[in-house]
Amino acid sequence: AAPVLTIDGPSGSGKGTISRLVADALGWHLLDSGALYRAVGYAAGMAGLDLSDTEAVTRCAQITKIAFRDPKDGGETRVVVNGHDATDELRTETAGAAASAIAAIPGVRAALFERQRGFRKAPGLVADGRDMGTVIFPDAPHKVFLTASAAERARRRHKQLKEKGLNVTLASLLHEIEARDARDAARVVAPLKPAPDAVLIDTTGIPVGAVVARVLDLLRP
Ligand code: CDP
Repeated sequence: AAPVLTIDGPSGSGKGTISRLVADALGWHLLDSGALYRAVGYAAGMAGLDLSDTEAVTRCAQITKIAFRDPKDGGETRVVVNGHDATDELRTETAGAAASAIAAIPGVRAALFERQRGFRKAPGLVADGRDMGTVIFPDAPHKVFLTASAAERARRRHKQLKEKGLNVTLASLLHEIEARDARDAARVVAPLKPAPDAVLIDTTGIPVGAVVARVLDLLRP
């Protein structure tokens, strides 16, 4: 089977950015598993489903068509949900909250299991998420778990939101992140934790390029 590098971690740990850069450097495929959960949450919303209706949302996860398209001009990957380019909608906080709600439904996780495994293709795959190394690719030869202090993750989030012209206080973001960490670690379905064989990298205060180099080093024989 093609090699897999799993990159898991909490939100704000930098896994999205690092995964994309590492996949580009290696010429490997990329699985943004969070985008799949966001897409299902979005499709369920479009269908007017009650997100707590586990049966209806599970069915939605089974039938929703999700495709990733790389524009020829090298711009960002587009996410097409049931034929509609939903890239911009999927980035919103609303989509993140919907994703987090439906990700707690076991039927949804089961529906996405084989789909995610299908991304494993030659020459290799970088899989970005929260349970890539523990549940989806437990046999991956390379596993990384990224962390960063809550204060650093709040700062990164704050910067991102400011760039988007949104004004939220750092203190409220820190509070939100700490609450989300506690919820994610305590959740019964796929709680966020490193695989026993994952290499832990704390990205607090480390520039992106240095983290990428560190991850690429792990793949050298
Ligand atoms: O950056 P953040 O983790 O907030 O966003 P994301 O990676 O796009 O994931 C959105 C939500 O989907 C997360 O809050 C998780 O609850 C859920 N998720 C999951 O449960 N399992 C995954 N493999 C990926 C995402």
